[in-house]
Amino acid sequence: MQTSTLPLNLDHVRAEFPALGNGFIYLDNAGGSQVLRRVGDRVRDYLLSSSVQLGASYAPSQDAGARVLAARRSVATLINAAHDEEVVMGGASTALMYQVTQAILPGLQAGDEIIVTNTDHEANIGCWLRLQAAGATVRFWNINPETLELDLSDLQALLSPRVKWVAMTHASNILGTINPVAQVAALVHGMGARLCVDAVAYAPHRLVDVQASGADLYVFSFYKVFGPHYAVLWGRRELLLALSSLNHYFISADTIPYKLQPGNVNYELSYGCIGISDYLEDMGARLGAVGTARVKMQAAFDAFEQQEDLLAEQLLGFLRSKKNVRIIGLPDTKTGRRVPTISFMVDGVHSEAIVRHTDRFGIGIRFGDFYAKRLIEFLGLQDQGGVVRVSMAHYNTAGEIAQLLRHLDEAIG
Ligand SMILES: Cc1ncc(COP(=O)(O)O)c(C=O)c1O
Repeated sequence: MQTSTLPLNLDHVRAEFPALGNGFIYLDNAGGSQVLRRVGDRVRDYLLSSSVQLGASYAPSQDAGARVLAARRSVATLINAAHDEEVVMGGASTALMYQVTQAILPGLQAGDEIIVTNTDHEANIGCWLRLQAAGATVRFWNINPETLELDLSDLQALLSPRVKWVAMTHASNILGTINPVAQVAALVHGMGARLCVDAVAYAPHRLVDVQASGADLYVFSFYKVFGPHYAVLWGRRELLLALSSLNHYFISADTIPYKLQPGNVNYELSYGCIGISDYLEDMGARLGAVGTARVKMQAAFDAFEQQEDLLAEQLLGFLRSKKNVRIIGLPDTKTGRRVPTISFMVDGVHSEAIVRHTDRFGIGIRFGDFYAKRLIEFLGLQDQGGVVRVSMAHYNTAGEIAQLLRHLDEAIG
């Protein structure tokens, strides 16, 4: 639901991202977003003033420890975690998912089942397939090839008391479709299983609420949400406590999140992430929101959504007008179930040729499978070079999309 009334002040927004001043048109944001000045400043500040080991009794160590804890608090607010200890930080979503599934592994038994989807990035598939080594069976919940949607009835047919985990994406990094994870969570929990959600493609576009998502595990990467190359995994407290430890034998099993953070977090990148929450709060306040940090963040994301929908419609309308183009995903933004990550293919034209053309004009878009290789294969698009993907962020402008359209028109015909 959108609550904001004021539009985004794009000049102000763009000034927050130093790289946007260089004239390049960044439209590969689902690959990695631009970084806030506030984030960079904090990383630098931590490195140059707090580089000591944590946990000692001397003052700079205590101060540095307080900064890292403040960072965890800030991420807990950003994702609406009930407890700060539910926040596990690490180098990348892929690494965190691999780690957590390795912590799940000792609790599995032969005959246990796991369900994964064929629309996910491989980060939320491959790590589950590895659990077959423990005797688990992994089954695929495939999208409907006509609608490109994950049908709940197909999931229901796969669910049974043997299923222990279901792993799915909140939004596909190719289709851009937002999946009804809370509905899935209710079905999955009804069968006594648990849900792991990859929110990497979702988190840059909607305010994350891990509690409302219904998930048991929820993961995304900060480098797609205006921050550094770094990621967060949230897990329900009781679940994290029950998992096996990945840390040293003398780190007690009730020390969460540390037992799941072998080698500990990256201090400076954690501290940098405070800049993301700061920015969102500040944006919300500028838009007139009054109240808690999350009320302001919600107002910021409401305004982002409005801006992103305008840009997405600008591109989708153009693509819809082309007879030789197939949009791979929802064709419009009307349902509110689409993030502005837009993929398409052009009949008879290799996806690389389109991107090589736009490359010449200072526009960054991209082609390929985006590590959702199983989806591209399911759709039979390998020989096409995968899809062309244009992925927008709230800081993109209508003028930038107009330039893209001019050059896409030349390439598409
Ligand atoms: C949907 C999705 N999941 C997972 C990942 C992997 O994230 P990371 O690079 O942090 O491992 C990506 C990266 O592009 C992604 O788009």
